[in-house]
Amino acid sequence: MGESLLDRFELEGFRVQWSRTAEQAASLLDSQPFDAVVSDVRLPDGSGEQLFESRQRAPVALPPWLFITAFASVDRAVAMLQAGARDYVTKPFDIAELVDKVRVAVGQCEAAHPPTKPAVDVTLGASSAMQTLADQSRRVARRTRTVLITGESGVGKEVLARHLHAQAHPHGTAPFVAVNCGAIPETLIEVALFGHERGAFTGADRQRRGYVEQAEGGTLFLDEIAELTPALQVRLLRVLQDRQVQRLGAETTITVDLRVTCATHRDLHELVQQGRFREDLYYRIHVVHLKVPPLRDRPDDVLWLAQRFLQDEARERSEPVRRLTPAARAALLGHAWPGNVRELRNRVERACVMSELREVDAADLFEDRQASASPAELPTLEAFVADVEKAYLSAVLQRFKGRVGLAAQALGISRKTLWEKSKRYDLRPDD
Ligand SMILES: Nc1ncnc2c1ncn2[C@@H]1O[C@H](COP(=O)(O)OP(=O)(O)O)[C@@H](O)[C@H]1O
Ligand SMILES: [Mg+2]
Repeated sequence: MGESLLDRFELEGFRVQWSRTAEQAASLLDSQPFDAVVSDVRLPDGSGEQLFESRQRAPVALPPWLFITAFASVDRAVAMLQAGARDYVTKPFDIAELVDKVRVAVGQCEAAHPPTKPAVDVTLGASSAMQTLADQSRRVARRTRTVLITGESGVGKEVLARHLHAQAHPHGTAPFVAVNCGAIPETLIEVALFGHERGAFTGADRQRRGYVEQAEGGTLFLDEIAELTPALQVRLLRVLQDRQVQRLGAETTITVDLRVTCATHRDLHELVQQGRFREDLYYRIHVVHLKVPPLRDRPDDVLWLAQRFLQDEARERSEPVRRLTPAARAALLGHAWPGNVRELRNRVERACVMSELREVDAADLFEDRQASASPAELPTLEAFVADVEKAYLSAVLQRFKGRVGLAAQALGISRKTLWEKSKRYDLRPDD
């Protein structure tokens, strides 16, 4: 956790010193002034309270003090507030929450810390939410090696991961290795990630590099990270901490240099509280947390994305770019997008197949919804019966080779009625 906090606070522009023990912290505090202290309650060589209390008696001024505590010892943290500590957070906490508290403690609120002027960047979307994400990713892409991306399925988490990768490696030769942890069977994923030596197990007739090694120098994108088993969470933590990977059956480890971007549509914080996701891994991967909002919360992106997908389709088929009719625009804006951008893309692609060459209408985009809903598209009973009658008369006339008398007899109607009907339906018995 210490390392994650160090990374994040440095990213936020703080100068940070990290002490691993109470003793180290005490001598650091003696040696120079600090604007704030963040301390765990339990320390390897004592407690945070003891350290805090001894510093209150020290001759140098006591900086604002924030505690990190387990939920079970909140009462101790509250006692420390009464004793003069500034604030506390309970584990598992969101790093952003701690950063905010520290900013407040040092009297530096967000406004006093001017954000780098966001250049308009429309690679991710036109909405202000996506502009903010683009701005954040530009700031962090090169400066951090671990990023967590969360958001509903289909919002564009992988798109954002690739965008971060492209910004960290603008010259485009570094590998981007995407692994869906939920899609690979549990029995295979370990070998897939970490590789194996020749002879590591029956059938391992040659050595294989895992995805971690394949991402060397670039980015490993771990999608659906919440699906990793506890054993694999431990192994992944080791890769992230030590930057070392050990192939299955290997005796030595290999040093790797890579960025790791993780994604999930689940609430990791809640999974940590339920004991289903390791807390230490949680801190390791969420140094920077980027949240992609669902499409329904960023209506400004709907038409922008639709336009983009229409252009992609046109390019792929070497056709002119189709125009959205006003009804199509209204329908797109009125839809709730449960499947997010993925659904929008699928609908636009299908509409391009279904529609006329120049225009896409609402019915092309939402044919599933309109088929049963629009009365204009269903024939009336009269029209339907007429179609059937015409088809049957035509078939019977053909069978009797146009001999009206025989056909009328078979149909049980008079010659005169058959003539009249044939005329109405434009059937020519003589032919
Ligand atoms: N900002 C975007 N620009 C263009 N296409 C996008 C954008 N966001 C998502 N998509 C498209 O939507 C689909 C789902 O995106 P993906 O990144 O796989 O979502 P997630 O990983 O969140 O499920 C993909 O086809 C992707 O190309
Ligand atoms: Mg995905």
